[in-house]
Amino acid sequence: MDKIKVLSVFGTRPEAIKMAPLVKHLAAKPEFESLCCLTGQHREMLDSVMDIFQLRGDYDLNIMQARQTLSSITSRALLGMDEVIEQAKPDLILVHGDTSTTFAGALAAFYHKVPVGHVEAGLRTGDKYSPYPEEMNRKLVGSIADLHFCPTVNNLRNLEREAVAGTKFITGNTVIDAMKTTVRKDFVFSVPALNRLDFQKRRVIAVTCHRRENYGEPMREIMEAIRTLALRHEEIEVVYPVHLSPVVRECAFGILKEVPRVHLIDPIDVENMHNLMARCDFIMTDSGGLQEEAPALGKPVLVLRRETERPEAVEAGTVKLAGVRRDEILSLAEELLTDRNVYQTMAHAVNPYGDGNACERIARGILWHFGKLAERPADFHA
Ligand code: UD1
Ligand code: UDP
Repeated sequence: MDKIKVLSVFGTRPEAIKMAPLVKHLAAKPEFESLCCLTGQHREMLDSVMDIFQLRGDYDLNIMQARQTLSSITSRALLGMDEVIEQAKPDLILVHGDTSTTFAGALAAFYHKVPVGHVEAGLRTGDKYSPYPEEMNRKLVGSIADLHFCPTVNNLRNLEREAVAGTKFITGNTVIDAMKTTVRKDFVFSVPALNRLDFQKRRVIAVTCHRRENYGEPMREIMEAIRTLALRHEEIEVVYPVHLSPVVRECAFGILKEVPRVHLIDPIDVENMHNLMARCDFIMTDSGGLQEEAPALGKPVLVLRRETERPEAVEAGTVKLAGVRRDEILSLAEELLTDRNVYQTMAHAVNPYGDGNACERIARGILWHFGKLAERPADFHA
C-alpha cells in the first residue's frame, strides 16, 4: 500500500463540523489520500459547514427529504454507499458520532469488508431511547468498528465495560480542533440580528433545541420556559437559531414568535455560532456539540434533557442538567440571572473534551494501525 486511502462519511451539521478539520488534516499529510462522501442527510446546514471549511464532497448521495424518517435516511444512505465504496475502494472508512448517517456508513463498510474507524466513540447514556436513536446508533457502530477514537477516558471506559472489540485510542474531540480556526476576538458577525445585539449592556442567552426525543410535550415545555423567562426579565435577549426541522420550527415559532426579547433566526454558520457562544452570557441547549464547545469558552450551559452522555463538564461544574419541565428550566435559568456566585462558579473555562490536537492523534492512530508508525500515539488526558 502506497498511500492509505481514507474515506470519511458524514451528512449532518455536527458531523461536518467535527470531521472537516480531520479530512483536511489527513489531506495535508503525504501518507494519506483523504476523500469524503456526504450522504446529504442535511442539505443547507451541511453545505454551510462545507463552505466555511472550504471543503467539497468527492461523493454526494443527496438523500435528504422533508420530514424524513429514520428508516428512509438509513436505507437511502446504505444503498448509496454501495456504489461509492465500489468506486473508491478505500482502505479505511471513517464515520463520526451517532447519527443515522453514521450507522449506515459503518454498516455499508462492513458489508464491503472495509475496516471502520469510529470518531467520537464510546459516548453512552445507558438508555436506548434517550437520546433516540443516537444511543443505539453509537452502540451498533461500536460493534462494527475496528478503530475507536474516544474523546475522553470516560468514553474509553464505557467501551471497556461493554467488552467492545477493536483498538481504542483517547484523542480528545475534534470540535476543539475546529474551534482553533472559528473563534476570533475580532470576529464581525455576518448576521444582522447578531450585529444589532449589545453584548456589553444586555444579558444574551443563546438557545438551540432539536432532539427527536424532545419532539412533542418536552419541546413545548422548553419553549414555554423560554417564553416566561423573556417576559419576566427585561435585561435579557434570547437568540435562538432555529433548526430547519419542520417539527422544531412549528413548535418554536408557535410558542415564541413575537415574544419580546426573543430573536428567532435561521440556523447560522458555524463561525457566527461559535463567536455568538463566545460572547453570550449563558447557553440553553439540548445539543451535544454545544455541551462540548461551551466549557472551552467558559460559558455556563443548561442542558434541556433528562440525561447526558457528556458527564465530564457536569462534573467540572460548567454544565447543569435542567431537564425538560418548564418550571425546573425556569428556576435554573433565573438562578443564573440573579445569583452572581452560581454564575461565576459555572463560568470558568475548562477543557475536558480536548486540547485541539485530536486530528493529529487520530492520524497517528491510523498510521500505527497500518504499520506505518513504530509507536502508538500517546493518549489525550484532560
Ligand atoms: C440529525 C441527527 C441527530 C443530530 C442532528 C444534528 C439522526 C437520526 N439525527 O437530527 O443525531 O443531533 O441531526 O442537527 O441522524 N432539514 C432541512 N435542511 C437541513 C437539515 C434538516 O430542511 O439542512 C429538515 C428536513 O425536513 C429533515 C428534518 O430537518 O427531514 C430533520 O432532519 P434529520 O436529519 O432527519 O434529523 P435531525 O433532527 O436534524
Ligand atoms: N451550530 C451552528 N449553527 C447553528 C446552531 C448550531 O453552527 O445555528 C453548531 C454548534 O456550534 C455545534 C453544532 O452546530 O458545533 C451542533 O449541531 P447540532 O446541535 O445540530 O447537533 P448535535 O451536536 O446535537 O448532534
